[in-house]
Amino acid sequence: MKIKYSFILGHSSEISFAEIKSLLNFLSIKFLILEFNKYFLIIETDSEIDVVSIMKQLGGVIKIGKIENEFLINEIEKAQNFLFDYLVKNKSNGKLKIGFSFYNTSSSFMSSFERASFLLKKKLKQQNIPVRIITSKKQDLSAVIVDKEKLIDRGFDFQILAFDDKFFITKTLAIQDYEKFGSIDYDRPKIDATSGMMPPKLAQIMLNLSKNRDIVYDPFCGSGTILLMAGELNYKKIIGSDISSRAVSDSVENIKWYEEKFNKKLNYEIFEADVLDLPQKILDEKINCIVTEGYLGKPLRGNESLDFIKKQIKELEILYLKSFEVFSKISSLNCVIISMPVFARAKELFYLHILDKISEYGFKQENLLDDKYLNERRTLIYKREDQKVYREIIKFVKL
Ligand SMILES: C[S@@+](CC[C@H](N)C(=O)[O-])C[C@H]1O[C@@H](n2cnc3c(N)ncnc32)[C@H](O)[C@@H]1O
Repeated sequence: MKIKYSFILGHSSEISFAEIKSLLNFLSIKFLILEFNKYFLIIETDSEIDVVSIMKQLGGVIKIGKIENEFLINEIEKAQNFLFDYLVKNKSNGKLKIGFSFYNTSSSFMSSFERASFLLKKKLKQQNIPVRIITSKKQDLSAVIVDKEKLIDRGFDFQILAFDDKFFITKTLAIQDYEKFGSIDYDRPKIDATSGMMPPKLAQIMLNLSKNRDIVYDPFCGSGTILLMAGELNYKKIIGSDISSRAVSDSVENIKWYEEKFNKKLNYEIFEADVLDLPQKILDEKINCIVTEGYLGKPLRGNESLDFIKKQIKELEILYLKSFEVFSKISSLNCVIISMPVFARAKELFYLHILDKISEYGFKQENLLDDKYLNERRTLIYKREDQKVYREIIKFVKL
């Protein structure tokens, strides 16, 4: 039996899409893509999938739901009748709590749907089924509201997903563990604001792009965000290094905090090293994958001259290229997932122009999505508009 699932995507939707594809492939789940837009992805599978376990592993997805029915955009009344029958059949004891989350819908559609939902409430009341509709100022209910109102176990968060001339009604089955991400981001003892704070969600996404859970290495580990998230994903061994002794001690302290807070033991090794001068022991270690956010250069204030930016880029190009020369010597290595800096200055973007040269060290850039979703460099960009440095996410496989 074919089943359709929806994934509500985080703010860098292409990167979330690439992560889902990668994780489902890693889990050997066969699927067909029915729709992708900046709000959601819809897939079809041949059998049920464990959405709760999948949700726990994803960094770039807010909600996962199962499609219950599909209607033409002008069939709101028909949808209301369907919801009435569905709720009568699926309600539990006590007051029925329902919420609606709208994605990719027009405002006129939303207003018509909201009117229909009040009629639905009235109809249910007439059947002696008391209903509370949970609302929010936004078009959708956040994961926090869905969680606090217990809409997964004791209620319903219906996602209304519009595309082309139709809309889907979906029941949310799993939401992102926002508390855990928030805790790793803000409660850990050590953060390094000067080297750039990597969001734990992005670290988890990058790890998923590697399709690997064996031995991972981050040679620019900073305060250890990637290492912590590798712990979350149960990697067999986690190795990190950094040129700064402070970064090394920060990473160790963060991992110890994580182990205690989440009552979990990680198999890790962290040491001080210049990426250009790695100990032979590491080159001989059975490392499968490097997942890393490289050095971003000197912190920027925003008023730097063009010359300064260009000089910084030249220096970073040399560091990154030489790093790949070192990586090529790790014989067991399969892939490198790297975040490289992109400098945004007055709407112009400045990249590191080394993608072709990296191939000379025996690496091939892998497309994370079909060409139509990638930029001209065939990469994906993770950004917030107010940032001065964006992140370019690239996957290389070792030939
Ligand atoms: C952007 S930070 C990494 C942040 C990390 N992903 C995190 O979340 O904490 C880059 C790190 O690269 C380190 N670094 C700079 N040059 C290096 C080199 N030649 N070898 C190793 N590490 C280096 C810096 O000390 C810094 O901690």
